[in-house]
Amino acid sequence: MSVIRSVVRGTGSYLPQKVVTNAELAQQVDTSDEWIVQRTGIRERHIAADGELTSDLGRAAAARALEDAGLEAGDIDLVILATSTPDQTFPATAATIQAELGIERGAAFDLQAVCSGFVFGLATVDAHLRAGAFKRALVIGAETFSRILDWEDRGTCVLFGDGAGAVVLEAVPEAKSEGRGVLTTHLRTDGRHRTKLFVDGGPSSTGTVGHLRMEGREVFRHAVGMITDVIEDAFAATGESAATIDWFVPHQANRRIIDASAQKLHIAPEKVVTTVDRHGNTSAASIPLALDVARKDGRIGKGDLVLLEAMGGGFTWGSALVRW
Ligand code: ACO
Repeated sequence: MSVIRSVVRGTGSYLPQKVVTNAELAQQVDTSDEWIVQRTGIRERHIAADGELTSDLGRAAAARALEDAGLEAGDIDLVILATSTPDQTFPATAATIQAELGIERGAAFDLQAVCSGFVFGLATVDAHLRAGAFKRALVIGAETFSRILDWEDRGTCVLFGDGAGAVVLEAVPEAKSEGRGVLTTHLRTDGRHRTKLFVDGGPSSTGTVGHLRMEGREVFRHAVGMITDVIEDAFAATGESAATIDWFVPHQANRRIIDASAQKLHIAPEKVVTTVDRHGNTSAASIPLALDVARKDGRIGKGDLVLLEAMGGGFTWGSALVRW
């Protein structure tokens, strides 16, 4: 059997029009621009309009990724949407996006790994493409976290934003891949930490949607160690290193977590892509959003070695190395 590589063909992203600055938030809760910037690096975030759904954000990002890839809806046979904020309990929001894009074959499903969702989605797509089960896939991260925030809790509402990003991957025989594609992925979950970052509602418990709850210090305490461990796994599996990567595109939760992780791994600051200042934490959307920004502004180009990582509720965490 010939070896298959999952090669990136295009990226796209979408942000809701409305921007909310820290100063505007300070009019609603007892906080300040200075506190938020100092602790998180966040200056502003986008918030979805009334009636603007996760599927709307995800569809817009996916359509742009398809255009960027030079492909049409009919070329796609797998859609994976990473989200913790689906339109409905079911059907999967991926099915809505699939139908609205006009994709009529293959499979579409949602994947739930909170902020690590995009890395988990990328790993899942990669496994399906390499197994020969599908040919071309969309992996989308789309979130409307504004809908699950407690807007009276200053410890959490200042951290998150809404948005979506998408990547198109294609199964390419290794001989034709020019060394490009997903090189390795590493996924972890430790459910013993599930009460440190969670939503206090759900269909089988309260019958409500619930609000995000977080022990911020506990998340912070674990984040850097978990992130760097799983990146070391990616380096060990491939023989790559902080010196050989071209770009580090981390989950955009918090500037301090990003800087501490890069520092611990000896990744040069100029290789780190950060968007958290403008987007806040968009959970599963943050990595594909940042990838699209760095692609479109000319930083990430063909042949570049790109390191991705994420950590989030569960706890879940993971890494991926992609030759662009
Ligand atoms: N504005 C002003 N003061 C605030 C705010 C706010 N928005 N939020 C909390 N405070 C206050 C607290 O009430 C507390 O006051 P007190 O000392 O009088 O009791 C003080 O600030 C310190 O609170 P801590 O929660 O201990 O603040 P900390 O320095 O830990 O910063 C933060 C909080 C930014 C959440 C930090 O813990 C953090 O970054 N944690 C990581 C969490 C994260 O990034 N989560 C994202 C989701 S998970 C992921 O994506 C990886």
